[in-house]
Amino acid sequence: MQQRRVFSGMQPTGEAHLGNYLGALRQWVALQEQAECIFSVVDYHAITVEYDPAELPRRVFDMAVSFLAAGLDPDRCTMFVQSDVPEHTELTWVLNTVAPVGELERMTQYKDKTEGMESIPAGLLNYPILMAADILLYRATHVPVGEDQLQHLELSREVARRWNRQYSGGEPFFPEPQPVMGDAGRIRGLDGQAKMSKSRGNTVGMLDEPEAVWQRVRTAVTDPQRVRRSDPGRPEECNVFALHRYFTPEPELARIDRECRSAGIGCVDCKRMLAEGIAREFAPMRERAAEYRARPERVREILGDGAARCRALARETMQGVRERMGLTAWTEVPAGG
Ligand code: TYM
Repeated sequence: MQQRRVFSGMQPTGEAHLGNYLGALRQWVALQEQAECIFSVVDYHAITVEYDPAELPRRVFDMAVSFLAAGLDPDRCTMFVQSDVPEHTELTWVLNTVAPVGELERMTQYKDKTEGMESIPAGLLNYPILMAADILLYRATHVPVGEDQLQHLELSREVARRWNRQYSGGEPFFPEPQPVMGDAGRIRGLDGQAKMSKSRGNTVGMLDEPEAVWQRVRTAVTDPQRVRRSDPGRPEECNVFALHRYFTPEPELARIDRECRSAGIGCVDCKRMLAEGIAREFAPMRERAAEYRARPERVREILGDGAARCRALARETMQGVRERMGLTAWTEVPAGG
C-alpha cells in the first residue's frame, strides 16, 4: 500500500463560508498534522458555470487567504491554484476515455445545475472527470470532502478502477481514493433548507466581521412552527440550533435546548448568541486573514511554491500514464518495420 497522501479542492468562490469550513477546511487543518496533504483552489472547476473573468482572480486570492486563515500551514501542506498545473487538464482528457457517460448523467449535482438549461455545456457533464483527475494526478489515497461531494468521489474511484484494469494490468497504478468525512454532513444555509452555498445566497462568511455575521444570522429561518415568541420551539427542527452545535459549548447548548422548548428563550436571542459564537470562533482567523492580506506577495509565494512542487509530482504521474497507454514509445519504432 502506497503511503497515505491527501488531496482536496475548493472552488474559488471568494472567502470561504461556514459550510466550506465545517464540511471541509476544518478537516484539512487537522489532516495536515497526520499525512502528506495537497490542497487546491480549483479554478478550472469554477469556469463550468457563467462567471465574470474580471472577478475570478480576486475570488481565487480570497479563497487562498481563507485556506491560510483557517490554519493551513505552508510548512505542513502544499497549496496551489489548479490552473497553474496544466497536467490537470491533460489527465482529464485521458480519463474521459474511460469515464462512463451514463454515470456522469446520473450525478445529482449535474442534474441540479442543468435543470431547465436549454444548452448544457459539456464541461458541466465532465466536471467529475476533472475532479477525478485532480485526485489521481497525485495518486492520492484519501480525500476529505463534505457529504455533497461523495457521489463525485465514488465516480473517481470507478474511473481509477477502469483505467487500472485497462492500462495497468489490474495493478493499482492509481489508488482508489477513500473519502474522509468529518461529523458535519451537509450544512444547511440560512434558509434552513438547501445546502449552504454562495450560489444560493444563504451563507455566512467565515471571515465576516461580527456585525456582518449578525446581519446575516438574524435573517436565518428557524422552526417554522414557532410563530409567536410564546410558542414552544423544536430545536431538532431548527437550523439555528443545528449551527449552535458547532459554536456553543455543552452546558450552554443544553440550556438553549431546554429554554427553546419551554419558550424561555426567543429566536432573536438565540440567533444573537449564535452570531456571537461564530464571530468569537473565527476571530483568530480574521486576524490571520488580515495579516496575509497585508502581504499579498507572501500568498503568491506560497501558491507559487505549491504549484512548482505539484508540477513535479504531476509530470511524474503523467509519465507513468503515457508509458502505460503507449503514448511515448513511438520514438522507438524501428526503421523499415
Ligand atoms: P466546493 O467548492 O463546492 O466545496 C468545497 C468543500 O466544502 C464542502 N462544502 C460543504 N460541506 C458541508 N456543507 C455545505 N453546505 C458545504 N458546502 C461546501 C464540500 O463538500 C467540499 O468538500 N468539486 C468540488 C471541489 C473539488 C474537489 C476536487 C474536492 C474539485 N476537485 C478533488 C475534492 C477532491 C466542489 O465543488 O467543492
